[in-house]
Formats: sequence, structure tokens, C-alpha cells
Amino acid sequence: MTDAPAAPPAVRARGLTKRFGQRAAVDDLDLDVAEGTVYGLLGPNGAGKTTFMRMLFGLVGADAGTLEVFGRTWAHDGVATLAPVAGFIESPRFYPYLTGRANLRLLATLDRVDRRGDDADARIGGVLDTVDLLDRADEKVSGYSYGMRQRLGVAAALLREPRLLVLDEPANGLDPAGIRDMRALVTRLARSGLTVLLSSHDMDEVEQICDHVTIMSKGRVAFTGSLHRLRALAPAPTHLITTSDDLAALRVLSKAASRLDDVSVTTTHGALALRGPQAAIDRCVITLADAGVAVRTLVPGTSPLEAVFFSLTEPEDVVPTHSHQPEPGAAMSTRTSTAPKAAGAPAAAATSRSPR
Ligand SMILES: Nc1ncnc2c1ncn2[C@@H]1O[C@H](COP(=O)(O)OP(=O)(O)O)[C@@H](O)[C@H]1O
Ligand SMILES: [Mg+2]
Repeated sequence: MTDAPAAPPAVRARGLTKRFGQRAAVDDLDLDVAEGTVYGLLGPNGAGKTTFMRMLFGLVGADAGTLEVFGRTWAHDGVATLAPVAGFIESPRFYPYLTGRANLRLLATLDRVDRRGDDADARIGGVLDTVDLLDRADEKVSGYSYGMRQRLGVAAALLREPRLLVLDEPANGLDPAGIRDMRALVTRLARSGLTVLLSSHDMDEVEQICDHVTIMSKGRVAFTGSLHRLRALAPAPTHLITTSDDLAALRVLSKAASRLDDVSVTTTHGALALRGPQAAIDRCVITLADAGVAVRTLVPGTSPLEAVFFSLTEPEDVVPTHSHQPEPGAAMSTRTSTAPKAAGAPAAAATSRSPR
């Protein structure tokens, strides 16, 4: 799936670099987004995701390298480069005292939707329906939840009938229901054939909705390829267990080592960390039970994909399974959140041609 398609890709970056002072926010980036894919740009805070997207929208210029959108470049084609692209950076903005529909009407006028021979009102109704806001369209945006505003942002982008939808951390800051709705929306749009480029700091999210991913770390590409290829790099999953007698459990597992040779067992204070394929973990549990040692809790540690994400973006930090100190008998989880929320991210202009 890494073969270059015959048609120009939706996005092609080569050696793309953007510096702020001494620091390269985007550093010699190569990236190809094939048309028709849902492409995830994944990285911790400060990795350069927003800067890349701002370059895509022509909001900041590159210091070096090239960036093509469906074969067009800013240097050669100017603003026409943006014609097939819509989306938003960080959060879309709207007039809060107007309804969702009225905001879209304004944008449709600015975008001359009617000039394309479309009936603007019908089109507005259509995009509101797509993002599941039709029943709330005639309420003021000030009464919308954050998730509804994000979806209205997607509706605004869709008004332009883009071939490429660019979304910068669309699920960031949403509550679980908002995240679910946003994921469902992106998946629906992707099925309709739209190319989607979205950024995220959440491996889970990218795994659920993207087919290709570029992992960025400190402005550079740490991985690029299909989710399938990324999974192949992932270590075996880790499980943490607590038992009725951890020392006995360790002895039993060591004695059975020849039958369990695809599992590594390490101790942490109050728990055992088992790393290996699921079937081997199952054999461990059965072996312990046969030996009279009861397994009290068994919980997955850091997911394999998260582990590979950490190892690519924080190479010096070991995935924290071994140092974890669970409370005996309590359910525990070593899942660490991938990054803090984007608190210090610089504000960028809304690019869906929204007001303000
Ligand atoms: N306008 C700016 N001025 C100075 N530094 C910036 C600016 N925009 C971004 N940066 C820096 O560039 C790096 C990448 O930031 P950003 O692209 O926002 O990352 P991400 O979106 O992945 O969190 C960070 O170190 C950030 O502080
Ligand atoms: Mg960002």
C-alpha cells in the first residue's frame, strides 16, 4: 500500500521544514496522503502537527521543502491550492448569537455556494444532516455543546464540497459522547470517499478511524505507514496479575517455563507483569490455578500500539509496566494517557472561513 498512486496524492510533502527561531517545529518532513484514505497525523503535544496543517492552509510559509495539494503548490498556484481543501485548525469559530444554520448561510454566501449552481439552502440542510445537527440547526450556537460546535465546523467545511478534509485534533476536549459522535462522523465521511487528514495525540483514536498514520516526534517523522505495519512493530501485550500468593505464582511459572517460553514474567511490588501473546497468558492462568494459586486480578497493561507510540516518541522512557505498584486486590491499569491536553498550543486562525 506504499506504492505511489498514478494521480497526484491529496498531500505530498518533501523535506518540509518550518522553524520558529532556533527550533524546527516541522523538520524535514516527508509525507504522502493518498486520495481516499483516512490519514492520521499522530504525535504528542509540540510534535508539529498543527504547524504542518497551518502550512497546508497557507497560514504559515515553509522555510524549506515543498508541499503539494492534489499536485498544486502555493508557489505555483497560489490560493487555488486550497480549492479542494476544507477543515479547521484547533477549533472552528462561529457567531454565538446566530443559529447554526445562519452561521452556515453566512459562510455559504462568502463561499458563493450558490454560484456553483447549488441551491444553498438545500446544501446547508444536507451538511447539517450529515453532521447530525439538523434538529438543532435553528438554535443559537451559544447554546451548543463543544462537540456540536466541532460538528458544525465539519458542516462548514463540507459546504465547500472538499476533496480533502483537514481536522486538527477534532476530538480534543470532547466528552466521551462527543468523541464517539465525532469518530462516527469521520468514519461516515470516509466511507463516502472523502479523503480525511486528521491529527491526534491519541493512539487509540487513530487506530479506530485511520488506515494510514504518520507519527511525528519533535517535528520529525518517527513512523509512516499503514496501521497494519505499525501493529507489526508492536511488542507483545503486557498483562498485570495479582494472585493469592505472588511468590508461589512466580515459582510455579518459573518451573513451568519450558511450556511457557513465549511469556516473560517480571515482578513489581504486589503484582506480576506477564508479557506475551494472549494464548500464552491463558496458559499461565491455567497453570497457576492447577498449582493452587488463585488469580485475583488480570488487567491489560499499556496497549501494544501505545507502547510502540511511546517508544517512537519518547525513546528514553521505558513503558511503565515494571514500575507500576498496584493496590492489592484492586483493579488496576497501566494505561497512561498519551499526552496532556493541548493547553499551551498556540491559537491559530480558524480556516473554515469562519468569522473572527
Ligand atoms: N507561532 C509560533 N511561534 C513559536 N513557536 C511555535 C509557534 N507555533 C508553534 N510553535 C512551536 O512549534 C512546536 C510545534 O508546535 P505545534 O505544531 O503546535 O505542535 P502540535 O500541534 O503537534 O502540538 C512547538 O514546540 C511549539 O511551541
Ligand atoms: Mg496542535
